[in-house]
Amino acid sequence: MSAENAAVVNIAREGQVLVVTIQNPPVNALSQAVRQGLADAVAQARSDAQVQAILLVGSGKAFIAGADIREFGKPAMPPSLPDVLVQLENSDKIVVAAIHGPALGGGLEVALSCHYRLAVSGAKLGLPEVQLGLLPGAGGTQRTPRLIGVKAALDLMLSGRHASAEEALAMGLVDKVEPAGSDARTAGLAYANALLAQNAPVRRTREATALADKAASQAELDTAKAESAKKSRGLFSPGKIIECVQGALDLPFEQGMQNERKLFVQCLESPQRAGLIHAFFAERETAKIPEAKAAAPRALNSIGVVGGGTMGAGITVAALDAGLPVVMVERDAESIARGRANVEKVYDGLIAKGRMTAEKKAAIMARYSGSTDYAALAQVDLVIEAVFEEMGVKKAVFAELDKVCKPGAVIATNTSYLDIDAIAASISRPQDVIGLHFFSPANIMKLLEIVVPAKVSADVVATAFELARRMKKVPVRAGVCDGFIGNRILAVYREAANYLLEDGASPYQIDEAVREFGYPMGPFQVADLAGGDIGWATRKRKAATRDPKARYVQIADRIAEKGWFGQKTQRGYYLYPQGARVGEQDPEVLAIVDAERQRAGVTPRSFSNAEIMRRYMAAMVNEGANVVREGIALRPLDVDVTFLYGYGFPRFRGGPMKWADMVGLDKILADIREFAKEDALFWTPSPLLVELVEKGENFESLNKAA
Ligand code: 3HC
Ligand code: NAI
Repeated sequence: MSAENAAVVNIAREGQVLVVTIQNPPVNALSQAVRQGLADAVAQARSDAQVQAILLVGSGKAFIAGADIREFGKPAMPPSLPDVLVQLENSDKIVVAAIHGPALGGGLEVALSCHYRLAVSGAKLGLPEVQLGLLPGAGGTQRTPRLIGVKAALDLMLSGRHASAEEALAMGLVDKVEPAGSDARTAGLAYANALLAQNAPVRRTREATALADKAASQAELDTAKAESAKKSRGLFSPGKIIECVQGALDLPFEQGMQNERKLFVQCLESPQRAGLIHAFFAERETAKIPEAKAAAPRALNSIGVVGGGTMGAGITVAALDAGLPVVMVERDAESIARGRANVEKVYDGLIAKGRMTAEKKAAIMARYSGSTDYAALAQVDLVIEAVFEEMGVKKAVFAELDKVCKPGAVIATNTSYLDIDAIAASISRPQDVIGLHFFSPANIMKLLEIVVPAKVSADVVATAFELARRMKKVPVRAGVCDGFIGNRILAVYREAANYLLEDGASPYQIDEAVREFGYPMGPFQVADLAGGDIGWATRKRKAATRDPKARYVQIADRIAEKGWFGQKTQRGYYLYPQGARVGEQDPEVLAIVDAERQRAGVTPRSFSNAEIMRRYMAAMVNEGANVVREGIALRPLDVDVTFLYGYGFPRFRGGPMKWADMVGLDKILADIREFAKEDALFWTPSPLLVELVEKGENFESLNKAA
């Protein structure tokens, strides 16, 4: 065994049991060295006459979290995991897995290749490959249905969810559960010795009989297939998982394994795999920021929120759910009563759905207090302002906070667009001021843009990231500008959609094209959901500063002037009869669009859905490049994560910048230059995009360099 393998797989004999410990921190992923180490361990057990059983355990916090995701996309290195697991399963000496922590993907497949399994309570068992665009490719699609049946196996494989140790026992995935906190190695040794004492036989999962009733299994598969076709629209790997399980029903084990390998390789080579794995790593990278390395977070034991409207209430719920006490301040008694009611409404909704008890709500609300007096915020560690989006109102609130907050308190604003440097400069402690841009509904949406003004100190930034961690948000560091990362880019591709509309595409076709791309909704559906009045007010506010040379499409204004604000007024771009949530096309809207085209002197032309997406995406990527170039986003991956978590960008495409890399930056630049013939101002290529194309580089090179 090589020194490297010895380091990641430790082998020690305890009486008759060969204890094989995977020690490949942080999560014992099955790297080439681990696979080789496992194969060596099986060989050693075979040749050592004193060994009667093998016990597999993971060191540290996990059993095994799966294949080493970093190896995908690189040349395969032997031994392959399926081969190693066949050797393990073929062992003539019993093999026991003792699972604690995550046993996921290839990790669960290792366990399934063992003859007996125990899990310590608190373990997480699952086959999450689907979330990476893959399928369980080390026998998981063959062994799991044979062990627990088609229905339960497909549920795990198609959802990728984690099952608890107790649930795994109930479904037959493990044989035994040990109490939480038990040492897996000790429990595993006791189990292995007990099995030896009973003369327990070798028991291979591939010979398990849960598929014996072929007709019932086929019926379960057909049901899952029909459901998956609805749920997994546009995704590649779910269909392949179902094909593999069909193979488990129809083929002998070895052929089923070959079929699984063939389909696994297809998934591996799919662009969806590349997009989903990019998303996996990108969302773990965004918290790696210079300030977090430079400074430790300040104390964070209590939160203040100013404003109890849509955002203030949502932020309060997010903080309460993170276990923090919250003091809410509103402008008068009536508003604070409404603020509290807004918070309670969230919990009452959960109670109505049976997802929370009244007692639990009472326990959470005990950490809430409301006041109309800013003095109530004197002791909080961090306060988030969420009042009206007006600079005067914000500055007045900040002046109050400057007076009452204790020294060192972090003072944050949830502004969507306003200049946070100016807000910071208006008080005596700009070093404590930061932007915390939550998304609505703030207790649900995962994205948190952490907006870093010029004068803020590093430990305040670190504290904001710590708050995100406690709230289980996905934090993205952003610089100060109009709209930060997300809303700034949104404004540009929304404008591209307006141009397409005036130039000849209907709102319904644009929405359809965007949905086909993988978004849950198109931009005009989103406008109807968000409410047309908000955008209208913003446009009126910005009218004075708009570039007179820039093209301005007035269709949205005409619709808003009619009071058609979307779902809440039962019509916007769509009609929503009797409060329907799915809109119907509206001929009157099309008539307005026509009239506006005539007024603007535009002769409508037709666009294919692909042409619509070329423009929509080129606008998004170009502004994304500007945002990176100006340092508003640290890296392209920060733009990707912003769009995945805040704007419904299809995860299987990895994010707009990853998508652009996969399409080819040269193609996107060529598109922009072609569109610039119609409107050179709007379609000004980002200098960063031009530079990358000239150097033959891509956005990923900037992610790596950062
Ligand atoms: N391969 C490589 N690195 C991995 C990894 C894996 N399978 N799983 C996690 N990591 C890395 C993370 O990137 C992170 O690295 P970083 O510290 O440099 O950012 C580190 O391990 C810790 O991960 P988390 O921050 O996610 O730690 P948590 O404690 O929050 O979560 C976890 C742990 C639940 C195991 C989570 O990491 C996870 O879900 N991992 C992925 C599991 C998975 O998808 N497995 C299937 C892989 S595909 C497969 O097995 C194919 C097979 O069928 C052939
Ligand atoms: P909202 O109108 O629902 O709530 C604002 C609340 O602030 C009201 O309850 C009001 O009584 C209170 N308020 C006003 N002046 C106050 C004062 N001087 N002291 C104390 N309370 C005062 O507004 P919403 O939507 O919650 O927005 C709040 C902020 O969050 C704005 O800056 C907005 O741009 C931002 N934001 C809004 C998002 C959204 O989707 N609604 C998303 C992200 C940010």
